Amino acid sequence: MKTTITSLLALVFLTKGLLAQPKKQGFLYQDAGKPIEERISDLLGRMTLEEKVMQLNQYTLGRNDNANNMADPVNDIPAEIGSLIYFSSNPDLRNRVQHKAMEKSRLGIPILFGYDVIHGFRTIYPISLAQACSWNPELVRQATAVAAQESRMSGVDWTFSPMIDVARDGRWGRVAEGYGEDPYTNAVFAVASVKGYQGDNLASPTNVAACLKHYVGYGASEGGRDYVYTEISNQTLWDTYMLPYEEGVKAGAATLMSSFNDISGTPSSANEYLLRDILKKRWQHDGFVVSDWGAIVQLTAQGVAKDRKEATLKSFNAGVEMDMMNQCYDRHLADLVKEGKVKADLLDDAVKRVLRVKFRLGLFERPFTPVSTEKERFLLPKSLKIATRLAEESIVLLKNERKTLPLSAALKKIAVIGPMSNSKWNLLGSWRAQGNADDATTVYEGLKRELEGKTQVVQAPGCDFDGNDQSGFAEAVNMAAGADAIVVCLGEKSQWSGENASRSTIALPQLQEELLFALKKTGKPLILVLSSGRPLELNRLEPLCDAIVTMWQPGTPGGSPIAAVISGKVNPSGKLAMTFPYATGQIPIYYNHRQSARPHQGKYQDIQAKPLYDFGYGLSYTTFEYGDLKASARKVKSDGTLTLEVAVKNTGDADGLETVHWYLSDPVSSISRPLKALKYFQKQLVKKGETRIFSFQVNVKKDFGFVDGKGEKFIEAGDYEVMVKDKKIKIEVTP
Ligand code: NOJ
Repeated sequence: MKTTITSLLALVFLTKGLLAQPKKQGFLYQDAGKPIEERISDLLGRMTLEEKVMQLNQYTLGRNDNANNMADPVNDIPAEIGSLIYFSSNPDLRNRVQHKAMEKSRLGIPILFGYDVIHGFRTIYPISLAQACSWNPELVRQATAVAAQESRMSGVDWTFSPMIDVARDGRWGRVAEGYGEDPYTNAVFAVASVKGYQGDNLASPTNVAACLKHYVGYGASEGGRDYVYTEISNQTLWDTYMLPYEEGVKAGAATLMSSFNDISGTPSSANEYLLRDILKKRWQHDGFVVSDWGAIVQLTAQGVAKDRKEATLKSFNAGVEMDMMNQCYDRHLADLVKEGKVKADLLDDAVKRVLRVKFRLGLFERPFTPVSTEKERFLLPKSLKIATRLAEESIVLLKNERKTLPLSAALKKIAVIGPMSNSKWNLLGSWRAQGNADDATTVYEGLKRELEGKTQVVQAPGCDFDGNDQSGFAEAVNMAAGADAIVVCLGEKSQWSGENASRSTIALPQLQEELLFALKKTGKPLILVLSSGRPLELNRLEPLCDAIVTMWQPGTPGGSPIAAVISGKVNPSGKLAMTFPYATGQIPIYYNHRQSARPHQGKYQDIQAKPLYDFGYGLSYTTFEYGDLKASARKVKSDGTLTLEVAVKNTGDADGLETVHWYLSDPVSSISRPLKALKYFQKQLVKKGETRIFSFQVNVKKDFGFVDGKGEKFIEAGDYEVMVKDKKIKIEVTP
């Protein structure tokens, strides 16, 4: 049905406005020596209304691999289409269709090919939530640069990434895709990934255009259900959700994606305040906004537009320039312009924005992707090394009683048990692009390789990920009873997180918990290895385990990084970027909450008030001792600067990477503020016995200041607190 409609549309366009004979050579817009803005104006001046409208539409090309957004393949792609989502891992198909655009369309405007390259294209690196736990933005920049190289060389010019939605409800499947619960953390990794994808020059054959998504507030989805309403006050919008976008725009992100959610009655994809007043006017973003898949037509479901035409009007006028698979702009935008409901100037502005990104990508000069072998572009040794290091640094050691980990070399035999123990597929996570599970190592394989010649490694799944079948328990328990330690690998299937993958509880299925209870009865040391796309509820398991470590979803490196941590070759350094609640019922629970009117009261009667593991928590095989916080001054002017320092000594017996998190609080403010807010972090290697200084160069207005419900930054005189771990000092800010 969709195929037919699209083909018909193409026909209508071809017979309507595109018949004028092309004169393809020698136009100013084709002269690479001319400034981009002049080229855009020249080209725009030659375009018909229908050609302009077609630039603002995106269809799909190739075999759709996105289960949540299925569409029939469009076989007859109009040569004038603006963009395509490219579901393929080699450039052939792209080049064929691009030839059509360049040769059969009147003006030869290249098509922009986009794709969901979320945590790697073929070399898959850990999910974003894991990346954040590495606290290593430079490594994330390198990983996103690998993704860009593999993508661009495969025919993809534009990734729908990074996702920078602050998210505080682990039931929401998409927490896997973002950088956790903290606005500053999301902002830092937004910048790192934009730099990695785009590099210094979008036109490089190994860079792609980035897309900040989902603008904005999608992470506030009620109850963690996907696509639903979000209740966000203007104050919360600004102090929680906007920072990552503002910083991502400053870093030069070429595009943004408007989100699905209705924000307190005005859906993001029809939100003029956010899209036009803030993004385009205040932040001066000169690239374009693409709707999320179907987000325009869904304005009808959300009850703010009566039909596709009204949805087109609302979304376009609000500032969404490109229609991703809505069949709205292609059907209705030209008529709306003719009827005077959409101003011609606004249409021109939208087209200019899309063309600007195409010019910046160098598509007019190099519309085709050079053909290369898979070996030349995928899984390069350097790429795998980056993915592996990122996976290692993302691993968070949550518990380690009596130094259970690293495993003692004296152990003769370990049993690797659990549904995750020999799985490849689930280690890749959701949004695996062109990732291939066969490239990954399982935990069992990783441990066997790592411990070869030292410790015997045996394996049994024990059970599936869910269901009731306990028939494999006996074999697993027997095997475990004959070993010196048990590594029990539990967790979530890939499809349990990501888009449209919410869960009512963040606990593991009962079957997996029962397996661990059964293994506990062997009396052997129990090491719980977790792989998931979200924080998990562990309160029944935690007391039974000697050690707990999460590897999230590590991607192509699979089980090798965790094996290196278990063996002690790698000292874990990850710290949580999202709180692990004690129980699902505590959600939302996050570190940067505001103070209760009665901090000593109001708790749940049946469970502890504190989460199981806090934001920023993570153990190491060594110990670090923090000195007192030092400040270059205790009294500063509100427009001043300040240097803060802390000395960190490695007092254990292994070298270790340590991340220092600098938090700030303003105990009394005209607008109540989070109890503490992360303002800066830094990771350094501290060798055993060594002391390193960690410092924070404070810009008082920026770092101590706050933002009001209109997005205006302000700073008030008074006492502020700076916190690192349990150390605290007061700084007085004067006007
Ligand atoms: C819908 C998702 O919300 C978005 O993140 C993704 O980029 C688009 N589909 C395209 O696949």
